[in-house]
Amino acid sequence: MILVWVRKAILLLGLLAGLSSATAVRAETLEELGQSLFFDTNLSLNRTQSCAACHMPDQAFTDARGMAASGGNPAVADDAAQRGKFKTPTLRNVAVTGPYMHNGVFGDLRTVMLFYNKHNSKAARRQINPETGAAWAPPVAGDNLAREELEFGPALKDREVDALVAFLRTLTDKRYEHLLSD
Ligand code: HEC
Repeated sequence: MILVWVRKAILLLGLLAGLSSATAVRAETLEELGQSLFFDTNLSLNRTQSCAACHMPDQAFTDARGMAASGGNPAVADDAAQRGKFKTPTLRNVAVTGPYMHNGVFGDLRTVMLFYNKHNSKAARRQINPETGAAWAPPVAGDNLAREELEFGPALKDREVDALVAFLRTLTDKRYEHLLSD
């Protein structure tokens, strides 16, 4: 008798498991979450800008805007308003083209995400550059920082930082995939 009940219970459990796996919504992968974040305008204060506003997919993840590089461009060398401004770099193959930023200051893609996130997050641990273990270096042209845009978005959680990196890794051409780090 007991055996029959146990068998029935197992049968029922099996049925439920089968049902739930058939009807369950597939869990979002890290890459998919990263993709949503990349296009999410809620990351900006006025809710109109996303990563894709500057790193435009149809422009090889850069934009068509020219921006003067400080010092390097003689046409604007004396223009203080241009100091510290750089063109938006492409993100195609970005996961295999470190080091990052105009001066190659970061070796790891995750650090780039944390660097931008430090403005939004007031947490003490977010004020530390994980590559140096010290506080982030002060900006070269602090007066030209877009503080309002940088400082009032929502802070990213660890999983969201990981997700953006996971998404950026998907922008790697097949022929360079062997260069991806684990
Ligand atoms: C307002 C325009 C703008 C937005 C929005 C923006 N970026 Fe950028 N991004 C830039 C510029 C300009 C640089 C170059 C900065 C430098 O070299 O100092 C850059 C650099 C980067 C780099 C380093 C690339 C390299 O090869 O060195 C990565 C990665 C990156 N951005 C990813 C993102 C992600 C992810 C988002 C959204 C969370 C984002 N960016 C939002 C303009 C933007």
